[in-house]
Amino acid sequence: MNYLLNTWYVAAWSHDVVPGAILARTILDQPVALFRRTDGTLAAIHDACPHRFAPLSAGILQGDRIACRYHGLAFDGSGACVFNPHGPTLRSMATRAYPVHEAHRAAWIWMGEPDRADPALIPDLSYLSEAPETAFSSGELLSGPGNYEVFVDNILDLSHTDYLHPDTLGGGANTKAKQEITESDGFFDVTWYARDIPPPPLLASLVDSLPERTDSFSRVRWFAPGVMKLVAGIVPAGADESVAVSNVNAHIMTPETARATHYFFAATRNYRTGDAELNERIAATRKRIFATEDKPMIELVDARMGGREFWSMRPILLSIDGASVRARRRLQALIAAEQAGTAAAAA
Ligand code: FES
Ligand SMILES: [Fe+2]
Repeated sequence: MNYLLNTWYVAAWSHDVVPGAILARTILDQPVALFRRTDGTLAAIHDACPHRFAPLSAGILQGDRIACRYHGLAFDGSGACVFNPHGPTLRSMATRAYPVHEAHRAAWIWMGEPDRADPALIPDLSYLSEAPETAFSSGELLSGPGNYEVFVDNILDLSHTDYLHPDTLGGGANTKAKQEITESDGFFDVTWYARDIPPPPLLASLVDSLPERTDSFSRVRWFAPGVMKLVAGIVPAGADESVAVSNVNAHIMTPETARATHYFFAATRNYRTGDAELNERIAATRKRIFATEDKPMIELVDARMGGREFWSMRPILLSIDGASVRARRRLQALIAAEQAGTAAAAA
């Protein structure tokens, strides 16, 4: 599978990389072992010992290094072999290390050329760090079946909510909505506007005294390859967006393999922000909707696609596909440019 390499991927939420433990993850088909050094900084190294390929995540974390459980070689967070019980430690015994950076409550990893790993390229999700604990939840919705671009499609085409989630997130608004796309350097925004409609059922149950007629908007900012910020807001019909009651969520897709995805999700909101009980309830509802509605559908889609390339299956294109097709084309172009650059450098 061709992936975009020179970009940041979320490897885990920060709280999932627990001091004293090693987290094993497959990212872009590569096994990776993540851990924290004793000063708390993150490290990520290739999760196969260069001797006989034992997973280093099955090894022992000794301070700032991992000792392989098979024959005792130890590696630090830079990938260097720092202990060899059988002889000298040589530079050639190093394993690969991946640049990692913590930002917006997440651990980001760079799978491409290490000297191009600039933290300034991490998408701006600073609203996640700014949210109060009682208006924030995060988790990994899944690590499992489905190509990451199929999961990206699922967010870039919210008309699915009207059919897959009719009683909660849907309600008909997204099918009727007018779609607008704004291109920018490095990302694009797609917004669906629906005017003069009843509020969506889930939000209506959470927010007191909503008017019967509202304008709603859902806006997704897509950053390649699969980081999305989704703002879903409603205002009394005719009112300005600045008074919107809104949920501001993150949907982040990191390829595990060609047919499996790490789906990281985070939720914030601007109403009842001090209500911890509501916070729990929203988090549980989202998990349930995903687990019982999105996840089974994407598993079925993945089974039907059977690992075939998307365009080779000649999907029909509808008016609802504008944003998802744009994301696929932009990503394809980025991957092609990256590969052309690598080929030129090799030549
Ligand atoms: S496999 Fe790790 S030291 Fe031999
Ligand atoms: Fe969904």
